[in-house]
Amino acid sequence: MCGIVGYIGNKNAQNILMAGLKRLEYRGYDSAGIMTLDEKEKSVLLRAKGKVSELEKRINGNKVEHTVGIGHTRWATHGEPSKRNAHPHAIGDIYIVHNGIIENYQDLKLILEQRDYVFKSDTDTEILGALIDSLYKQSETLLEAVSGALQMVVGAYGIAVMSADNPEEIVVARQGSPLIVGVDEGEVFIASDASALVGHTDKVIYMHDGEIGVCSRDGLELYDGDSHVVRAQVEKLELDVQSIQKNGYDHFLLKEIYEQPDSLRATLSGRIDPKTGYAKLGGLNVSDEQLRDIEHVFIIGCGTAYYAGLLAGYYIEKLVDGVTIHNHIASELRYRSFHVPESTVALIVSQSGETADTLACLTELKRRGVTCLGVVNAVGSTIAREVDGGVYVHVGAEISVASTKAFTSQVVSITIFGLMLAQAKGAGLQLIDEYIEELDALPKEITKVLETKAGEVKKLAKKYASYDHAVFTGRDTLYPTALEGALKLKEISYIQSEGYASGELKHGPIALIDDRMFEVCYIQDNWLYEKSQSNLIEINARGAHAIVITDTDKRLSAEAVVRVSTRLRHLTPLLFNVVSQLFAYHVAVVRGNDVDQPRNLAKSVTVE
Ligand code: M6R
Repeated sequence: MCGIVGYIGNKNAQNILMAGLKRLEYRGYDSAGIMTLDEKEKSVLLRAKGKVSELEKRINGNKVEHTVGIGHTRWATHGEPSKRNAHPHAIGDIYIVHNGIIENYQDLKLILEQRDYVFKSDTDTEILGALIDSLYKQSETLLEAVSGALQMVVGAYGIAVMSADNPEEIVVARQGSPLIVGVDEGEVFIASDASALVGHTDKVIYMHDGEIGVCSRDGLELYDGDSHVVRAQVEKLELDVQSIQKNGYDHFLLKEIYEQPDSLRATLSGRIDPKTGYAKLGGLNVSDEQLRDIEHVFIIGCGTAYYAGLLAGYYIEKLVDGVTIHNHIASELRYRSFHVPESTVALIVSQSGETADTLACLTELKRRGVTCLGVVNAVGSTIAREVDGGVYVHVGAEISVASTKAFTSQVVSITIFGLMLAQAKGAGLQLIDEYIEELDALPKEITKVLETKAGEVKKLAKKYASYDHAVFTGRDTLYPTALEGALKLKEISYIQSEGYASGELKHGPIALIDDRMFEVCYIQDNWLYEKSQSNLIEINARGAHAIVITDTDKRLSAEAVVRVSTRLRHLTPLLFNVVSQLFAYHVAVVRGNDVDQPRNLAKSVTVE
């Protein structure tokens, strides 16, 4: 989604803003712009539709030595992607960049048109800029004008605002859209995403909702919604440059697939011990007694995070009797008239920690007094800060829009939570030990899949890359695996692919099967093997192009069979998922797609 950068200091602002925008590219965007100002109040505003490289071309002929400015990558909400709709917007004396949505922008527009404002773009942001400008005319400071305008606004925002007559400050504010301020000697950096700050400073302030601040060369002055001074809490930024570079891989996606053994070790570190049968997530802020009393677990997320919760939910059900799992898609749950039973805990699953729908569910559940625990990757993100307790999955920066390593570690983290529940409730020790042993073995098992299957999957991808439709099927834990496999393929290859429970095929989806489609069938050699095999026979009988991903040595009739040899039993779906990740990646490459920034998608969906 949209990204914000800002800088005030003594270095070249254009260079710093452009470097920041490049770091934000992974989030997905359709246009970009920067504005810098010099001491004589002369501004240079440059905007371009398309990639940041287009903006770079414009800058090449307009290089200046300004030391203050703001920049933006836009993902269109109001108005088509175009130069005219790109930020920063300039209106009156005001320059503004904005992430989020101003819901009452049409009402405000009518008021402002009566004050003779004429708008050049279709954006809600320009209207907010005009509102600030109209108040600035009667205010002593920009802070006062911005603060007054924000009181009239309904919606979500992260903003950075400058006035043409003051190159000494940038006003920032946040409500529902992240904003981070990095501080160093004589300079301040502004970003909506920590990756833009890496390499500049590791001292950061995560702004809270309702806060507004003035950035100058002396640092950040921060105020709460009632204009009281807030003591800004400076934290250490944990991201390093290595983690946001491709390190020799062609794409971030491939790098992140291959990082999984290590990222998983980071997730597991200190949380399980096969020797003692220990499984514990620090930071949950929940006692053993409270765990014992839990009867219902809501697991909430969007997209891949939702599927991770679905798969881990199966594991919790297997591990613990007497606990009911309620999986919810956040964008649905937030508008449902849902009932929360007594003794419920909610797991809020999000890689970015900023997903708007997931955050809305968290707010509602907290309002109802439900204990909410985060399963989050991005340190310091809004969800991580708002939950009652939780676990960081610790996979490091996930740059590619398609989520891979976060999925694996989300499943594992929630499963460890299930193990804690099982232990607190005195559930079967043998099963708990089996899971802990498998979790411990999982990084090596994933390495084995990556080392032994990559070539075979690449060839397969070549063969199937020209199809336009695909169906993914599985039973039990392989059903969420099928959903995730289909999502991965569709989002980066643009092949229409849908996941189904194998048992559902006969209830409709089998009608789809024809020569233009291929089917990915996950089959595990367990108590459901025969049933899954029957499904395979049924689709073969209808002329399917079946690809089976399996751990069995038994003979299976299919167009292609990928055999994953493993000693795992419970966590095998996570190995099959690695095969699907590789498959989706290679199909997307063969089709010539933008693997890391697929069309229309954004890494962090901060608006509804
Ligand atoms: O940051 P989150 O985990 O909350 O994001 C949720 C989804 O937007 C995300 O998983 C999305 O589905 C990915 N593009 C999937 O690869």
